[in-house]
Amino acid sequence: MQILVTGGLGYIGSHTSVLLLEKGYDIVVVDDLSNSNIEVLDNIFKITSKKPAFEKIDLKDKKAVSKLFQDYTFDGIIHFAAHKSVNESVNYPEKYFSNNVGSLENIIDEIKLLENPINFIFSSSCTVYGQADLMPIDESFPLKEAESPYGQSKRQCEEVLKSLHDSGHSFKNITLRYFNPIGAHPSALIGELPLGIPENLVPYITQTAIGKRECLTVFGNDYETADGTCVRDYIHIMDLAEVHITCLEKLISSNDDSLFKVYNVGTGKGTSVLELIHIFENVNDIKLNYKIGERRKGDVVTAYADTSKIKEELNWSTKNSLKNALKSAWNWELNLNKDE
Ligand code: NAD
Ligand code: WQD
Repeated sequence: MQILVTGGLGYIGSHTSVLLLEKGYDIVVVDDLSNSNIEVLDNIFKITSKKPAFEKIDLKDKKAVSKLFQDYTFDGIIHFAAHKSVNESVNYPEKYFSNNVGSLENIIDEIKLLENPINFIFSSSCTVYGQADLMPIDESFPLKEAESPYGQSKRQCEEVLKSLHDSGHSFKNITLRYFNPIGAHPSALIGELPLGIPENLVPYITQTAIGKRECLTVFGNDYETADGTCVRDYIHIMDLAEVHITCLEKLISSNDDSLFKVYNVGTGKGTSVLELIHIFENVNDIKLNYKIGERRKGDVVTAYADTSKIKEELNWSTKNSLKNALKSAWNWELNLNKDE
């Protein structure tokens, strides 16, 4: 089985590539390195002793995408490649629509030419729910007006996939709405590699703990939550990687040539920013320098998943603890800085 992994050198793609190789799949990693590093390929090799095929392609380039589909035959596609910075998307919305939606459309144009229904997994995000009215969030909740062009681009991608399904074209699709992935591979050889100042909480915490940043600002402690800080559903990256294998197996074994499913991927448990900081401090025996600051514009107050659909239909749930995720995030940061 040969699987195309777009964005396979990125954070989620690299962890999933490792599991795919360990499960015996052949993979072709496509990445334009816009938010990743070619060294990740060597580290995937160090972990798995397997070197995947790699193509440095910008998926916005229609001709290059056509050539990719001429050069290889794929049994499945996991489409991770996208830009993901909420902040940047506010300043450069067009960049987000052309990359996130445009790349998907180029791939879909090729899928339409295939004889057999392709197995396709798409990376969506809990951001499509905006601030949901109730918790936990299940997949039937209405998709709210997105807070950012990034969120809007993910919504549009979901609509593009729905249109392809509704048009009657045979293809098997699972869309995964990830909640907040954190942590790193237990080897500490791959992990999250933010460019510049991290926007996400956990890389900011680890960079503060190691001394790259002076102080973490907690964005607001006057929300209507137990301790006043925002609540999220943090999922270990190894659990998130694993769910792609489960979904791929489901797609491959299904006889339904127009299978079309959307699943939340989270733990089902909400954790506040302060709770997360304290767990990080305890499991790693570190005192973190942090202060309370202003609310961050666009933040939802609370978001955690109802995970019953994926549990019932695919018998999948998370296995790793938040403690384990925060230990692995710290080990990754230590490994990144071991020579300094
Ligand atoms: P990432 O930036 O680490 O990985 C994305 C990879 O795609 C990068 O290696 C980048 O170089 C590549 N890429 C981007 N545009 C490309 C293009 N035009 N052609 C080829 N390669 C391209 O991001 P990630 O955290 O691994 O996220 C993977 C997917 O999951 C994205 O679609 C993202 O929107 C989605 N997602 C991420 C999170 C999160 O918090 N990390 C949450 C929900 C959803
Ligand atoms: C988590 C919590 C912050 C940094 C983002 C995207 C979303 C999805 C997941 C891709 C929030 C607080 C953060 C800091 C802080 N990604 N925080 N100080 O906002 O849930 O979602 O990633 O699809 O689209 O928006 O994640 O890690 O940025 O923040 O207090 O320096 O940590 O306010 O409550 P978020 P995050």
